[in-house]
Amino acid sequence: MESVVAQNRQYWEALAPHRPGESVEFFRSGGTALNEDELAAVGDVRGRRVLQLACSVGDEALSFARLGADVVAVDLAPTHLATGRAKAEALGLAVDFREQDMMALDPELTGFDLIFISWGGICWVPDVNRWAADLAARLAAGGKLVISEHHPIWEVLTVTAPMRVNGDYFTPARVGTADPLKAPQITREFKTPITSRSFVWSIGAVVTAVLEAGLTLGSLQEFPAPEMYADLGEEAGHLPATYLITALRSVDRPEARLT
Ligand SMILES: C[S@@+](CC[C@H](N)C(=O)[O-])C[C@H]1O[C@@H](n2cnc3c(N)ncnc32)[C@H](O)[C@@H]1O
Repeated sequence: MESVVAQNRQYWEALAPHRPGESVEFFRSGGTALNEDELAAVGDVRGRRVLQLACSVGDEALSFARLGADVVAVDLAPTHLATGRAKAEALGLAVDFREQDMMALDPELTGFDLIFISWGGICWVPDVNRWAADLAARLAAGGKLVISEHHPIWEVLTVTAPMRVNGDYFTPARVGTADPLKAPQITREFKTPITSRSFVWSIGAVVTAVLEAGLTLGSLQEFPAPEMYADLGEEAGHLPATYLITALRSVDRPEARLT
């Protein structure tokens, strides 16, 4: 498994200098990297402990901090984290950016009111059951896991006409991407010879992992996003493009143990 992580760290480090994310000015003028559905799902985060996984350049972590949350944000790529730290400093926001594999988090990272992952984060999880069980143990009683992600159907279809199947909905592991439009946007301008190793988790696999981790499913929403299926015209709005899951750790659940 270390080789998957090591390869993906190299891949993201090659891309990271070319991915600045939102500008400091964007945040100064009141911008947020969280969409309305995400804001509704996370609720009021003021004074709450938030852990963001695969935080990249920290735009969502900074958005949580702007809302008054106490944020720890982890990512594999040190250059992404350096970009996030520079923005936090310029904005006078305190975010604890840490270089961590989200499958091997520091033992002291526990007691979170919210654990959040979004948009191209869960595809780097090699074992969704182990991942969900570990996160459940890191939530405070009453805490919430929010997964806001690319839909696996979008992941396995080409996004340009003619429609083709370019992945297997039922077999998670993949090397690189058959559809270049699924790779990070920057790879279209800046080509890296390093291949990523990612995973497509079906909705059933994610929900089952969350339930087996002992969490209670709060909601499961699926959304269209026609712009994510270039060239498909109006029918693009008939396909799911993203999903959002909330899952809760019940208040009266006995203390779960980190494995
Ligand atoms: C598409 S970006 C994340 C998206 C983020 N929500 C955003 O919109 O910027 C994917 C990130 O996952 C990180 N990553 C990949 N594997 C990881 C792992 N095992 N642990 C932590 N971060 C990881 C990469 O370094 C990269 O920054």
